Amino acid sequence: MADTNAKLTVNGEEYELPIIKGTLGRPVIDIAALQESGFWSYDPGFKVTAPVESKITYIDGGKGELLHRGYPIDELANNAEYLEVAYALLHGGLPTAEQKAEFFEKIREHTPVHDQLRKFFEGFRRDAHPMAIMVGVVGALSAFYHEDLDVSNEEHREITAIRLIAKMPTLAAMSYKYSQGEPFMYPRNDFNYAENFLYMMFATPADVDYEKNDVITRAMDKIFTLHADHEQNASTSTVRLAGSTGANPYACIAAGIAALWGPSHGGANEAVLEMLDEIGTVENVPEFMEKVKSREVKLMGFGHRVYKNFDPRAQVMKETCDEVLEALGINDPKLELAMALEKIALEDPFFIERNLYPNVDFYSGIILKAIGIPTSMFTVIFALARTSGWISHWLEMHSAPFKIGRPRQLYTGETRRDFVKVEDRK
Ligand code: CMC
Repeated sequence: MADTNAKLTVNGEEYELPIIKGTLGRPVIDIAALQESGFWSYDPGFKVTAPVESKITYIDGGKGELLHRGYPIDELANNAEYLEVAYALLHGGLPTAEQKAEFFEKIREHTPVHDQLRKFFEGFRRDAHPMAIMVGVVGALSAFYHEDLDVSNEEHREITAIRLIAKMPTLAAMSYKYSQGEPFMYPRNDFNYAENFLYMMFATPADVDYEKNDVITRAMDKIFTLHADHEQNASTSTVRLAGSTGANPYACIAAGIAALWGPSHGGANEAVLEMLDEIGTVENVPEFMEKVKSREVKLMGFGHRVYKNFDPRAQVMKETCDEVLEALGINDPKLELAMALEKIALEDPFFIERNLYPNVDFYSGIILKAIGIPTSMFTVIFALARTSGWISHWLEMHSAPFKIGRPRQLYTGETRRDFVKVEDRK
């Protein structure tokens, strides 16, 4: 709701720009009137631009607060199951017991993937990165659900969300099994969401006595919850932008997976472990820190565009990390190395002055490694978990009128010049 106006004067002309307040956080200045001014706004990296209104997730980077539908992330991670959080993201609030049972049942019904989809895997090299496979196979889902999918139909949108959340663990585990040369495991619908994923990852058909581990299952579920949504981050914005053209939602999610893959975003959890491998031992930490300060490398798992105090997800992750390592009796030298890095970084003026704190990916990599998940699967797990957030944003966008996302630019290329025939070019 417009509260009062800001004024902008350009070339002697004054423009009234409405200030709009949300329920929490900074108000925004509606700059639509710039259209008449002869200027565009310029904001590389969208550092100060809010292209959407949303009711799903709120982040206060200064306070280190993350709320999904109003619920604090630590309360959700410590008390709710990931699928309840997914329900809240999709539907506006946590489910009642009845809604929960119904939603979980629907998810269970949709865990298998079309048998023909298996063939797609065979087209990949065995050493293909599982994120490359995920971009391909999730995109391929659009071919299975296209002709009869009408994005303007609410029921169709709803079933799309269910299918995606249900099938992501199956596809993620298949991408791992393929890399191992092991047969795909069918989902077991007597297992819960996290158990089922771990089963499809680690069981084999020969393994008749597959045993679940409650500590690992709970840690996995928490990792899913902590990665479920994060408002308008790069991959979510990608899903929204692709969705704004009316594109097939499975293709939009594949676009989100592609955006997530980069080391500045979801790829950071994998990059943290690679960095720890590169450093090797605690003695090498000071030398590595010098490289960071001379901007030769970044300290992966540190820093965040929005959190400038602490990442609330990292706090829960650190506790979970301690629990898992203790329960599994793991004494990993990598952990010692990670803790040494964390200590130095938290005390060093370079990091303090720039508000660089450990983010969620700093600890998630260590837990995943302890569970036995290979490094190349870390970002796949992030993608699996973030699917509930991506599709919630896609649903939110489609539930009201929206415009195609089409940014402007500051052009600094050649001005108009005449065409020169090839024989006359110098
Ligand atoms: N190591 C060393 N210096 C850093 C780091 C880092 N990880 N992150 C930022 N800086 C420095 C940066 O060089 C700059 O210094 P200066 O002002 O002297 O040039 C200053 O801090 C501000 O950095 P920025 O690049 O303007 O910050 P940003 O908001 O554009 O980037 C970020 C945020 C997450 C991309 C960045 O902090 C980074 O690359 N971190 C490492 C990768 C990482 O862990 N990403 C996971 C983010 S959490 C999971 C997710 O949401 O995807």
